[in-house]
Formats: sequence, structure tokens, C-alpha cells
Amino acid sequence: MKIVNWAIIGTGRIAHTFAQALAGTEGARLYAVGSRTLAKAQEFADEFGFEKAYGSYDELVRDSEIDVVYIATPMASHYKDTMLCLDNGLNVLCEKSAALSLNELDKMLEKARSKGLFFMEAMWMKCRPVYLKALQWVKEGRIGTPEYLKADFSNLVKYDRSDRLFAPECGGGALLDLAVYPLTFALDFLGRKPKELTTYAHIGKDGVDLSNSITLKYETAFADISSGFELPCNNSAVISGDKGSIVFADWFFCCCEVSLYDNETNLIEKREIPNEVNGYEYEIREVHRCLESGLAESELVPHESTRAVMKIMDECRSRWGMKFPNE
Ligand SMILES: NC(=O)c1ccc[n+]([C@@H]2O[C@H](COP(=O)([O-])OP(=O)(O)OC[C@H]3O[C@@H](n4cnc5c(N)ncnc54)[C@H](OP(=O)(O)O)[C@@H]3O)[C@@H](O)[C@H]2O)c1
Repeated sequence: MKIVNWAIIGTGRIAHTFAQALAGTEGARLYAVGSRTLAKAQEFADEFGFEKAYGSYDELVRDSEIDVVYIATPMASHYKDTMLCLDNGLNVLCEKSAALSLNELDKMLEKARSKGLFFMEAMWMKCRPVYLKALQWVKEGRIGTPEYLKADFSNLVKYDRSDRLFAPECGGGALLDLAVYPLTFALDFLGRKPKELTTYAHIGKDGVDLSNSITLKYETAFADISSGFELPCNNSAVISGDKGSIVFADWFFCCCEVSLYDNETNLIEKREIPNEVNGYEYEIREVHRCLESGLAESELVPHESTRAVMKIMDECRSRWGMKFPNE
């Protein structure tokens, strides 16, 4: 197996989790880390054993030993950080939500295409074994025709204006941070083109949504989605069809258990697939597979899937009148 030289841009919360996954994944070399501050980059490099530490993102992208960069900065920085990497000939795995808007995302994808480089949103849920198992059950007709889907992702987050979650200038709000998961889930199981959308949001004093509710209507099905920072939920997900239903364990986007029931709620099959590292190893392996095969796009996280979700998030924000600075 070819060794892949990984670099990370941004040394925040998820960068730490991802670095742990890299350290436990075969074929991944913890090569470089870039921060806006050299001391932070060095501290991060020392903690995880990265070989190089850079005190700016500009310096990092000039390192030609890098195979792929994982972008772990706030949403509002994804566009410029991705463009910086692609302009310097580097493949990109970019955290969710990949951009602030479809307009930004399309420019990023066009740049990747024109440079012949790999780009993938770090939608790790789509690479996880129980998620793929559930998709397979639906494809095999095990629940018949899907008719109803429900998914929520809510946490109780203490207000802190300095946290990116509440900061419009960072691309804050529950939509791009949390709803991106249940929306991706709905579009994967019911289709990328819902016929109608209804949505409500509670917009906080800083101008970003603190909670939201989204209903997607399809020809023969509908999806009921909610997310927010204002109350803790069990973050469940269920898909029902005329022959049965699929129920994910709590924290559906990262859980290790999924169950199939018939339409009298008898358990038919249950899959428990424990993480091998911390759950992020599957998306890392998918990036390795794509790079090794010379693919510019992942089949598990295709560009069109990221685009379809982004389009719906644009529509929600437009209905709510929620704009990010400079939009
Ligand atoms: N996949 C997942 O499970 C998951 C979980 C949480 C978050 N995320 C995503 O990962 C991204 C980062 O989230 P996070 O929770 O790790 O954020 P965070 O803790 O705030 O860290 C973000 C990092 O980005 C860098 N940065 C660059 N410009 C910045 C700015 N203007 N303001 C603040 N930080 C800036 C900073 O690193 P330096 O100072 O080192 O440059 C900072 O530590 C988001 O897109 C989020 O949606 C994904």
C-alpha cells in the first residue's frame, strides 16, 4: 500500500479527533500541520507526531511532499482554504459543510476539475459501514418503497459569541453545522430532488439560526428533519417503507448499530459494527482508495450529493432571510 502524506489545516476540535484517526489508519503518514500560529502548529505536531509544523496555511501548501490536505477550519474559511490548496496542486478533503453556498461550492468543484485534483467533503457518515448497510437494505427492497424518514440532530450549546457556531462571520448556525447531516441522510435515502420544501427557523440575535425544522416532500414520501443548539435530543433516525423500517441507534450519523424491522415492528436483522479507531478511519480509507485509483471524486461522497444538500441549505437560508456577511 502506498503511504499517503496527510496535512491538516486548522488545529481546532475536529482536527484533534481526525489526527487520532489518521494515527490509527494504515497507510496514513502524519506529515504536516498548518496553523495561523506557529506555536499552535508545533504543539499539535508534537502531540500527534506530525513531521512538519507550519505557522501559516500559505507556507504549508508550498510543501510539495503533501498528498492531501484535510481542511478543518470554520465554514466561512473553506472556500479560500480549498482554493489555496487546489491552486498549489494539492488534493482536498474539506470538512462539512463544504462551503457557505452552492455558488462557492461550484467554484471549488470547477477549480478541482480544471486542475485534475481530488476533492471530497468530509461527510464521514456516508463512509460508515452501518450507513452503507442501511442503504443496501433499501436498495434490496427490504423495507419496500420508502415513505417516511425522520432525523434530528440537536445539542444544548451554551451561548458564546466567540464560538464559530454562533458567529455569522465564521458561517455559524445550526443549518450548516448540524442539519447538513440529516439533510444528507434524507437525500441519500429518498432522492436528491425533493418536490417541495417547508422550513422554519429560530434566528438568534447574531443573525444565524439556533434551531430549524425542514420538511421535504417527495412524490410518494416525505422527510422530517430538525436540528439546533437549543435543546438536547437523542439524534435519532428512522426510514419507513410499506414493508418495514430501518432504525439507527441514537446519534445516527456516527452510531455503530442499525436495525431492520418488518411492518409489524418485528426485528428482522440487526447490525453492530464497532469502530476500528474512532469512526473517522472509514473516510480516510475512502480518500486513500480514491487517490490510489487516481479518482478525482469519491463514489461514496460524490460531488453531486454535496451540491444537492448545499442547494437545499441555500433555499432554507433564502426563505429565512439569513445571509452571511458579504453575501
Ligand atoms: N466531522 C465531524 O464530526 C465534525 C465535528 C465538528 C466539526 N466539524 C467541522 O469541522 C470544521 C471545524 O470545526 P471545529 O469544531 O473543529 O472548529 P474550531 O474548534 O473552532 O477550530 C477551527 C480551527 O480553524 C482555524 N481557523 C481558521 N480561521 C479561523 C477563524 N476565523 N476563526 C476560528 N478559527 C479559525 C483555527 O486553527 P488555527 O488557529 O490552528 O489556524 C481553529 O482552531 C467545521 O467546518 C465543522 O463543521 C466536523
